[in-house]
Amino acid sequence: MGRKNSKNCGYADVLIGLQYGDEGKARVVDMLAKDYDVIARFNGGANAGHTIETNEGVKVALQQIPSGIFYPDKLLYVGSGCVINIEKITLEIDRLKQINVDLSKRLRLSCQASIIQPHHILIDVQTGKTIGTTRNGIGPCYADKAYRMDGDRLLNIKLGDLNDDPKKYFAIIKENLMAAAKMYGLSMKEIGDSDDLIKKLEAGFRKIKKHIESDTLYLEKKAQSGARILFEGAQSIMLDITKGSVPYVTSSNTVAAAAYVGGDLSPSYHRKTIGIAKAIMSRVGHGPFASEFGGKRSEDYCMTAVNGKPKYSQTVEIDYGVEKLLKSKEDFDIGVALRILSREYGTVTTRPRRVGILDLVQLSYAIRMNGVNELVINKCDVLNVFTSTKKAKIPLVVGYKLDGKNIDYVPGSVISYYKVKPVVEYLNSFRGTVSHIKDFKALPGALREFVLTVERKCGCKITGIGVGPERDQFVKIN
Ligand code: IMP
Repeated sequence: MGRKNSKNCGYADVLIGLQYGDEGKARVVDMLAKDYDVIARFNGGANAGHTIETNEGVKVALQQIPSGIFYPDKLLYVGSGCVINIEKITLEIDRLKQINVDLSKRLRLSCQASIIQPHHILIDVQTGKTIGTTRNGIGPCYADKAYRMDGDRLLNIKLGDLNDDPKKYFAIIKENLMAAAKMYGLSMKEIGDSDDLIKKLEAGFRKIKKHIESDTLYLEKKAQSGARILFEGAQSIMLDITKGSVPYVTSSNTVAAAAYVGGDLSPSYHRKTIGIAKAIMSRVGHGPFASEFGGKRSEDYCMTAVNGKPKYSQTVEIDYGVEKLLKSKEDFDIGVALRILSREYGTVTTRPRRVGILDLVQLSYAIRMNGVNELVINKCDVLNVFTSTKKAKIPLVVGYKLDGKNIDYVPGSVISYYKVKPVVEYLNSFRGTVSHIKDFKALPGALREFVLTVERKCGCKITGIGVGPERDQFVKIN
């Protein structure tokens, strides 16, 4: 029984971020969701921060639940490649209920998805600073998945295990906590009240129990009987644990192909891949970012923290004089101004995001590596800011030089990637707002030229651009 044997079977499309995350994937999923039956996640967990908005302007920040929430007839599936923070997903479900989004019959969580255990979060807080993780325990959880067991003690605990025998597996979760505390020399104060932690987890588990899907062929059966599935990637290509800027990455596979492992479906259902990018790039956490405004200075500035909190948050930067920064000769200053004007601060962490020029070498790499068929570019409205810079032009990275040689790929190691010198070209900029425009032909000529240039240089059809943060501020391109 394969896809080809059935005339009426469905298909799957994969939507992924092509840069370093935060490209606005959720708003595109929200827009496309009406044409699908199931929206499914295949990687990551509460490290993702997806914000979507209703037509009435209600903003909802999602971390673990797929973005199709506003369509009551759509099923939401969280695949085995995801890692589940029980407490946080319970809160998400409750918050959605408060705005009349009832998930009781729509949300399915794979029984094969691993649980984020309390010790994962403690270890991440202890060890994740150099990478700049979101402190959600993601890395330690995936690491335990790979470790599987420590002697007789099970490290990778899945939703299905808790479903089979909650008493047994909650006891192991407590043992894991104690063992990790010993290993990392954590005090009782640092751990907190372990009984209380487990009780809270148990209470959360009782609430989500009904969502656990024990049928490991659930999605395949849906597809077999005609369902159209949209896989929603979390994090992005450059954060992939193998293909990204390792080690400054997340701990799951974020590439399109991973949808057919962590999403619990055969690749024979694949129809197309949709890639999302942003006209001015951003990155959070440490690691190479070839087109960053201000390079290393910006990386260090954005990552400065005081008592675990970002030093230069939005509330600090809002008082900076944007006009003066934009006129500066320093790329660093232009980057700060762009961050303020395009509101590039972490949804979950509130960290200032590092910002950079749209990098077409990196984007082409992501498109080729993932077989992207359709490209969407968000935040194109912000490009008008460049009219206020000294050059008054839109910069684009069109080439990389590594040790004096031209290269057309993303280096596979961190030292080389930090050494890359981007080659920048400039396009004409445009004045005024474009957020009200709905038709490609009505866009300023310079913005149309920008779209056509990116399309040509990346060899991928651009099917839409974001021209503002609101749900309908989007221009479809046929
Ligand atoms: P972790 O996924 O929390 O382990 O963090 C690893 C790296 O990925 C850090 O640099 C994070 O800032 C980054 N990261 C994780 N999730 C996201 C996301 O949803 N958007 C952007 N960056 C992310």
